[in-house]
Amino acid sequence: MAWEVTLVGVCTFLLVYYVQTTDISNCTYDGALMNCSFYSFREIPNITSLTVPALDISNNKISTITLLDFREAVIDNLKSLNLSHNQISTIYNSSFQKLKNLEVLDLSNNLLHGEDLNTKVFDELEHLKVLNLERNPLKFVRRKTFDYTNLEALEHLDLSHCDIQNLEDSSIDLPRLVDLDLSWNRLQSLKPDALRMMADLEILDLSHNDLTEIRSLFYLPELKTLILDNNGLRHVELSDAVDKFVSKVRVISLRNNEITTLGQDDLPWDLEMIDQIDFTNNPIKCDCKLKWIISSEIIVKKNVTIQCMYPEEVRGANLLKLSDDKLICRTPVLEIMLAIGASVMAVAIIIVVVFCIIALRRRRIRIKKSKDGGGDYTAMYTRDDEDENHRVSISEYTIFTKDGGGKSKG
Ligand SMILES: *[C@@H]1O[C@H](CO)[C@@H](O)[C@H](O)[C@H]1NC(C)=O
Ligand SMILES: *[C@@H]1O[C@H](CO)[C@@H](O)[C@H](O)[C@H]1NC(C)=O
Ligand SMILES: *[C@@H]1O[C@H](CO)[C@@H](O)[C@H](O)[C@H]1NC(C)=O
Ligand SMILES: *[C@@H]1O[C@H](CO)[C@@H](O)[C@H](O)[C@H]1NC(C)=O
Ligand SMILES: *[C@@H]1O[C@H](CO)[C@@H](O)[C@H](O)[C@H]1NC(C)=O
Ligand SMILES: *[C@@H]1O[C@H](CO)[C@@H](O)[C@H](O)[C@H]1NC(C)=O
Repeated sequence: MAWEVTLVGVCTFLLVYYVQTTDISNCTYDGALMNCSFYSFREIPNITSLTVPALDISNNKISTITLLDFREAVIDNLKSLNLSHNQISTIYNSSFQKLKNLEVLDLSNNLLHGEDLNTKVFDELEHLKVLNLERNPLKFVRRKTFDYTNLEALEHLDLSHCDIQNLEDSSIDLPRLVDLDLSWNRLQSLKPDALRMMADLEILDLSHNDLTEIRSLFYLPELKTLILDNNGLRHVELSDAVDKFVSKVRVISLRNNEITTLGQDDLPWDLEMIDQIDFTNNPIKCDCKLKWIISSEIIVKKNVTIQCMYPEEVRGANLLKLSDDKLICRTPVLEIMLAIGASVMAVAIIIVVVFCIIALRRRRIRIKKSKDGGGDYTAMYTRDDEDENHRVSISEYTIFTKDGGGKSKG
């Protein structure tokens, strides 16, 4: 009797569980968006009875995506699928392949790792324009994960907050991409072949990474905006790279870095295309070394923001608004003292070296030979570091003294 009750209980539980995980009767639908947000779905419900342009299944408990196969009318209409804020860690190859008309796919805030993604996962999403993978613990992006053969229409890719340290060669290869967000990752350097064939890219956001210097860039012929804020950059040497790789760039943002001074070759300052350069909040020392910037008519005409941090008197001022006489190079007391200290040190080192040389020479044994009281000497030297026997034999040698007599030693 008891086991029957148990069986009925288990069956009821399973039925309720199944119904709860897939029943869409409580989802709201306004003709444009079916909102199934905040249920406890563990899998994607089968949409059967409606033609839905946008489906929001965010904030559920989905962990695995398998083939999405809805009614044909549903598939034809579905343009946007929101799967954000689930627990997705597995996507089967070609899961989305039937969603021929999908334009927006939001997979942000899930648990996807770099190794879970490959070129087949996004197979045949040929009309997809927007792909959001923000806040997944990817760590790296594998070769050909985002490839034009599958994502041929993709225009916006968000890979921010993904803990990415490494972009493998050709990991992003999307000629139609317009906007790439790689901010809030852990990139330390840019491998020149990570991004390829990005012929249409206009905005590249690399802010909040761990870049400390940049000498090269990707070839991005249409790039308009390059964002390098919050990176700990100490200097940029981008004059040639910009000319060569991103010659149409208009806006370069370098806010919140560690740049202290600016050289004529750091950026292609004269490039006509560039109209906005932002150095806000860098430890820039506005002294006589930066006079060349304010005397350049071309730069002054652009929207260039160089906020001074040092010296104290001009802190916070915009360099381009300062007059020539404010840019002074003073030698501070400390520097003078350091210079004196360094000189004293140098003299001391020279004295020590000279002393050592003299001491070494003194330790040489000098044997001199004189001719009968004359002033001619023939000297024979031997070095201290020659072997013991040799020295002994020399000390046994006859030493001729000035007064002509020969004394035998030893
Ligand atoms: C749908 O909503 C009703 C009323 O709020 C509730 O009783 C029912 O359990 C809900 N169904 C599901 C599957 O969440
Ligand atoms: C979907 O429904 C949830 C819960 O009712 C609500 O918080 C959310 O704003 C809705 N989304 C949209 C886009 O209307
Ligand atoms: C969804 O429903 C359709 C029509 O009833 C059916 O053909 C399809 O196999 C179902 N898909 C899944 C994943 O259950
Ligand atoms: C998906 O849902 C999340 C959370 O509800 C929301 O913030 C986000 O804007 C939605 N994405 C799209 C593409 O509508
Ligand atoms: C998915 O496709 C990738 C790339 O072609 C392949 O390496 C992997 O084995 C496939 N995975 C499955 C589960 O079929
Ligand atoms: C100048 O650049 C700053 C950012 O550096 C921007 O906020 C501002 O709108 C720009 N002004 C003009 C006139 O373009």
